[in-house]
Amino acid sequence: MTAGDEFEIFLVTAPGLEAALCAEARERGFKAPTPVKGGVTVTGGWPEVWRANLELRGASRVLARIAEFRALHLAQLDKRARKVPWGEILRRDLPFRVEASCKHSRIYHQRAAAQRVETAIREALGASVSPEAEICIKARIEDDLCTVSVDSSGETLHKRGHKEAVAKAPMRENLAALFLRLCGFDGSEPVVDPMCGSGTFVIEAAEIAAGLKPGRSRRFAFEQLAGFDAAAWRRLQEKGGSQPPPAARFFGSDRDAGAIQAARDNAARAGVAGWTEFRQQTISDLTAPEGPPGLVIVNPPYGGRIGERKRLYPLYNALGQVLRARFAGWRVGLVTNDASLAAATGLPFAPPGGPVSHGGISVMLFQAGPLS
Ligand SMILES: C[S@@+](CC[C@H](N)C(=O)[O-])C[C@H]1O[C@@H](n2cnc3c(N)ncnc32)[C@H](O)[C@@H]1O
Repeated sequence: MTAGDEFEIFLVTAPGLEAALCAEARERGFKAPTPVKGGVTVTGGWPEVWRANLELRGASRVLARIAEFRALHLAQLDKRARKVPWGEILRRDLPFRVEASCKHSRIYHQRAAAQRVETAIREALGASVSPEAEICIKARIEDDLCTVSVDSSGETLHKRGHKEAVAKAPMRENLAALFLRLCGFDGSEPVVDPMCGSGTFVIEAAEIAAGLKPGRSRRFAFEQLAGFDAAAWRRLQEKGGSQPPPAARFFGSDRDAGAIQAARDNAARAGVAGWTEFRQQTISDLTAPEGPPGLVIVNPPYGGRIGERKRLYPLYNALGQVLRARFAGWRVGLVTNDASLAAATGLPFAPPGGPVSHGGISVMLFQAGPLS
């Protein structure tokens, strides 16, 4: 695979958010974006793989699909895996590991499949295998077809590299960005999150408004691949330059003092402290900021067992009352796992979109407004 080659790039996201990520990929000029289960495919070469990691807010991982072949048994998997031009992809001096998955296939033993591919690469290339290696090759065997990908991201992309402090039940950054997108947020209006925890929605919104690239502060696994061009990567990172600070402001509040401190620290590290404001306060003290209306986006505590859910009705109810009384003209996006809790707000929500999987919990985005 040479620098000019194009291949399929798989952008992984949370099931339920494929269409939203597809819209983002299209907006950012990626070629042939197509939503599929669990992500979006685009086509491109390594520069697009780098750019996807750097610029896409909604992806949790970017996989470069480097080979595809039929494999009916382990010996065939071994033989065909050796034919992949590993020297163009992996460095001999860095360890790698292989993860395999098998579905509806004659090869059904994932660990055995992974070991075969590991051995094939080790012997063909001379690189060593390590379970701790950052470089991960994924072999997905489905209907006897083996798709081989390189995970170009490494640590999952929701880790932007600014968040040291996390409060309870944080929203993942890539989900927060896609929920903001689904609420029609384009960076030009103010945002309020009255239960902001460590500030994920507010910081994502402020970064979007400022035109900051989500991957600007972190490193990626592709920096350790054979074809990595450090100078070209630097040019890509610097492209676009800095933009003027946004006109809108972004507000977070939470009753928990530790969460607010975490949010402020995270915003400072992200470089958005100048246009974000965080305040310790409960829902009952919440007021709309001065100026034009915008978007309230919030994920209140989730209802787990029935007893817990009952305890949360008054909180959701209070949130709804405050928003109806003090946020005329604002739109509302509420993320929760329970439709009856959303209904307890009394807000005029449209039917929610499909469920989105968030760390094992199935959540939904409820949208209302502008409130009258
Ligand atoms: C699911 S967490 C939100 C996580 C947040 N989106 C993040 O990414 O970190 C719910 C938050 O609601 C806050 N909370 C609960 N009751 C509250 C109240 N009455 N007023 C304000 N905040 C409250 C909790 O302290 C918690 O941080």
